[in-house]
Amino acid sequence: MKVREILVTSALPYANGDIHLGHLVEYIQTDIWVRSMKAQGHKVTYVCADDAHGTAIMLKAEDNGVTPEQQIANVQAAHEADFAKFLINFDNYHSTHSEENREFSELIYRRLRDAGHISTRDVEQLFDPEKQLFLADRFVKGTCPECGAADQYGDNCEVCGTTYDATELKDPHSTLSNATPILKTSKHYFFDLPEFEQFLKDWTRSDNRLQTSVANKLQEWFDAGLTSWDISRDAPYFGFQIPDTPSDEPDKYFYVWLDAPVGYMASFKNLCDKRAGTDDALDFDHYWAQENEHKTEVYHFIGKDIVYFHALFWPAMLAGSELRTPTGVFAHGFLMVNGEKMSKSRGTFIKADTYAEHLHPEYLRYYFASKLSDKVEDINLDLEDFMQKVNSDLVGKVVNIASRSAGFLVKKYDGMLTEVCAEPSLLEDITKTGDEIAAAYENREFSRAMRLIMQCADKANEYIDEKKPWALAKVEGSEQEVQDVCSVAINIFRQLMVYLAPVLPELTENAREFLNIENLSFASRNEWLLGHKINKFKPLMQRIEEKDIAAMVDASKASLTQTETSITNKDSKLFEKNEPAAATDAEQTDYIGIDDFAKVEMKVAHVLACNHVEGADKLLQFTLDVGEDKPRNVFSGIRKFYEPEQLQGKKVICVTNLAPRKMKFGISEGMILSAGDPKTGLTVITLADDVKIGTTLA
Ligand code: 2FM
Ligand code: ZN
Repeated sequence: MKVREILVTSALPYANGDIHLGHLVEYIQTDIWVRSMKAQGHKVTYVCADDAHGTAIMLKAEDNGVTPEQQIANVQAAHEADFAKFLINFDNYHSTHSEENREFSELIYRRLRDAGHISTRDVEQLFDPEKQLFLADRFVKGTCPECGAADQYGDNCEVCGTTYDATELKDPHSTLSNATPILKTSKHYFFDLPEFEQFLKDWTRSDNRLQTSVANKLQEWFDAGLTSWDISRDAPYFGFQIPDTPSDEPDKYFYVWLDAPVGYMASFKNLCDKRAGTDDALDFDHYWAQENEHKTEVYHFIGKDIVYFHALFWPAMLAGSELRTPTGVFAHGFLMVNGEKMSKSRGTFIKADTYAEHLHPEYLRYYFASKLSDKVEDINLDLEDFMQKVNSDLVGKVVNIASRSAGFLVKKYDGMLTEVCAEPSLLEDITKTGDEIAAAYENREFSRAMRLIMQCADKANEYIDEKKPWALAKVEGSEQEVQDVCSVAINIFRQLMVYLAPVLPELTENAREFLNIENLSFASRNEWLLGHKINKFKPLMQRIEEKDIAAMVDASKASLTQTETSITNKDSKLFEKNEPAAATDAEQTDYIGIDDFAKVEMKVAHVLACNHVEGADKLLQFTLDVGEDKPRNVFSGIRKFYEPEQLQGKKVICVTNLAPRKMKFGISEGMILSAGDPKTGLTVITLADDVKIGTTLA
């Protein structure tokens, strides 16, 4: 077998937030893949780092009253502790705020510049005069220029769906200081992505580098036309200064996404230096020099929201600076919990450490493995199904095989397995299935691998059920048969431990000790345990109890009150203009305090009249009796979902202390509450007829 030399990375988590179960999908997926490839005898190196730069981290440090350096050191320690709990076995964990990263970022930048791929031009942007910084779209709010909805972010309106430039917002204010932003111009540095269009078209379509759905998505971006990429940010910024800029020019910094992927190289270099002179020494250039592109392999595991950076910017940056490009980029979907986006109020926004306080991390590793495929699909953690599956598969099927057979062998045969296998065809069958399981792991079809493994476990249990060693043990003269049956069962159990080792490293390590064997490499399954002595069996896994899940959900809800509003890097970046707006994740929830909520006045209103509005295909006009002297006029964007007569005479809920809003068609004096998605369907919340008009909701 050819030993492949493989470097693997997971996306670098931002140094301003906790690791949660959504993050863990990726780290668990990558870790299982790495462990499975190592078990198949390949030389695999798995590196990661904290993504430490950017405005959001700088502001977070300020909020926390610490320096950015302290902020990122604290978060890195917490991240590493969380990853260790979930048995994520990095060969190295580093930081993008490191000398190695500065060196490589500068090197790549200078090579790109010298090859003519960097240009500069003036950019006009909103600037916060109080905080003295340029505002990314996420840090500006104002009134939608299209529909007049108040309090909309600087890139698109959540009420009418229009996208616009932050500079078009009416009455804009900075979310950082509340100040009115001013327009300011500054020089920015751009990476000429369009020059790489042909290279990227070839790269993304060849050598199976990308999943088909990802390659198709890229085609859409090619069709829309690539634009040059703004790689600079003005001070104040936490990051690396761009080298060789004119001395009379204010400081310019690399945008965080410029140096983030370079962090993969930096972490690897840091490991090369640590291992220099040892038996495990690694040669940096062997993995990253352009001429070695086909000698070694580099794979990036990422979430679907950051494909643009990894499949366009990153390979273009590498090719433009004469470095090797990745062998493959593997994207996965987002995590849903109980079929919905993770939610802090439902207690399904679960942090890694909250989970680990209540449940064993290997349960989650197994459940994710049973759901993951090579597709970019979202996966659902259904907590009820999670409990059933783990209890039934791991405790009920797998561990049960050993617990049913080990006792007899240890008590009656001093732990000795038979010299000859009594059921060779069954064992051969399960040994052979190992080839398919190995292939499924390599192809990232973990759910298929888990299904195959459980089929093997089913066969073992059927065999034991049929032979009934517990009954045989009571029949005189059946001693040999009891030892035969239990020895076959233990041999199958050992195969299952080999197959499950990438997913359940701790359980299988305990099983390895019980089985008294050297290792759990894939090849080891070909040598059956004959005339071999096992150790005393100790329980390997407890059932999940419903109360543990409930306690974890409660604890997640409780942490809601402790979680301060945080602006993540994702917030600021996803909404910037020359990058794709990806689905937002639950981490982006901005909380309001109870006092803020108490400020909202909601009253029961009676719909006296409801009419179409001429010239407005999204609006209905309401005349509402909210128990005041005179009725109110309210416009609501629900025309697409209702005919006026459906709402005439109904009792609805109106927000009565919303500032009156001047619209093209008149003044709107409140807001009617409805539920759903303004794009796909809204349902007006209606109340029973006998609820008193003007009642305040509390
Ligand atoms: O999206 C994110 O969470 C980024 N911190 C991922 C960076 S991956 C790599 F490019 F550094
Ligand atoms: Zn709008």
